[in-house]
Amino acid sequence: MSERWTPASWRNLPAKHIPTDYPDEGKVAAVEAELRRMPPLVFAGEARRLKSLLGDVAAGKAFLLQGGDCAESFKEFAADNIRDTFRLILQMAVVLTFAGGKPVVKVGRMAGQFAKPRSSPIETVNGMTLPSYRGDNINGMEFDEASRRPDPERLLRAYGQSSATLNLLRAFAGGGYADLYNIHRWTLGFVEGSPQGERYRELSEKISEALSFMAAIGVTPESQPDLHRVEFFTAHEALLLGYEEAMTRVDSTSGDWYDTSAHLLWIGERTRQLDHAHVEFMRGIKNPIGLKVGPTLEPDELIRLIDALNPEDEPGRLTLYGRFGSDKIAGRLPMLMRTTRDEGRNVVWAIDPMHGNTLTANNGYKTRPFDRILAEVKSFIEIAEAEGVHPGGVHLEMTGQNVTECLGGARALTEGDLADRYHTHCDPRLNGEQALELAFLVAEKLKAERLAGLSHQAAE
Ligand code: TRP
Ligand code: MN
Repeated sequence: MSERWTPASWRNLPAKHIPTDYPDEGKVAAVEAELRRMPPLVFAGEARRLKSLLGDVAAGKAFLLQGGDCAESFKEFAADNIRDTFRLILQMAVVLTFAGGKPVVKVGRMAGQFAKPRSSPIETVNGMTLPSYRGDNINGMEFDEASRRPDPERLLRAYGQSSATLNLLRAFAGGGYADLYNIHRWTLGFVEGSPQGERYRELSEKISEALSFMAAIGVTPESQPDLHRVEFFTAHEALLLGYEEAMTRVDSTSGDWYDTSAHLLWIGERTRQLDHAHVEFMRGIKNPIGLKVGPTLEPDELIRLIDALNPEDEPGRLTLYGRFGSDKIAGRLPMLMRTTRDEGRNVVWAIDPMHGNTLTANNGYKTRPFDRILAEVKSFIEIAEAEGVHPGGVHLEMTGQNVTECLGGARALTEGDLADRYHTHCDPRLNGEQALELAFLVAEKLKAERLAGLSHQAAE
């Protein structure tokens, strides 16, 4: 790690998963210069607000719900897709807030989640070898030489799409769509007739009753604007550091550097080397940040990463997203949680139950069994409780679209069903029904823990 941080100090260090094969580096520099002149997508004050909410999560006073596509794409960019994922997050937030009895911090894996680290830099199909697809802000998914060639112009298009997405999200969050009085309208068509849809309808009826009671005693959206809007934040993996650097600006109020491409940025499992570029870049920005924590991370390395990324032990600054796999979590998470607890580190512990549970189906589709995803979330909550750590949140790859990408769920999707609507640009996502089912399960777990906590307090 170099001593003095600047937005460009990462450039002196080794960096994984950043393309080095642009045909014309001069063009990359020109695009970055253009990005530097573009307006910020988020404000420092908003990032600070999210940090303070995540501080509540770290203290066990709130719960983090983060979700969205594995990878956004140019092709799937449409207002309906954004709306459907947004309303799924609202539905899940309702379920979790109601059962958990705590505010839910809502974060979209949206408006900037394009770049993907890939396990192999090349791909061979029918004897032809080309560079792997790396995300729409780098190259194209089609399997031909021209699309797979990295093109820096794509960074500008990704910026534009992020900006339009965020604009719509801000409108949905603040413009009336998220009004709790609309609770019945958020149900997605295909979820409506399902058991999950039914459960949601029952819950929303209870909440509507509570709302009319409150209105009768004078608590209305006019007197209580929070009934009528949500705070919604954006996040993505900070992979392409050239783009992130160009979006990093000094905040005039505090004099600090903020990456204005999203409220929260995280470091992926494959780029968290202590002496590499990604950790260097992320240590200097003041946004709340995340770190993916996988099954090979040793406790002492975790502490060194925390020392680098959150040296002042600021609450809400650092969220750790465990991503072990349902069969590995019990072998690794307890010691990691014990370490942060014993060392008194102020971090949010959350779970990404997607990335450790990916497999290839017999018919070649990359998929994830829903029961393993659920099992990892359950283990996470149980381990956290056993270790005296707050189970702070979930990070999901999901979509409001009616896709068939993950196996199982209430409709028991099988390998044969995967081909029906398999649309992801990268990893398999939960569909609306599966995501809602997961929210109900997490809610039940949290409620049980909450009640156990209450009776524990009463017994003291
Ligand atoms: N603003 C509050 C919150 O975000 C209440 C609220 C309004 C809400 N609309 C919502 C909660 C939609 C969940 C979903 O908690
Ligand atoms: Mn993914």
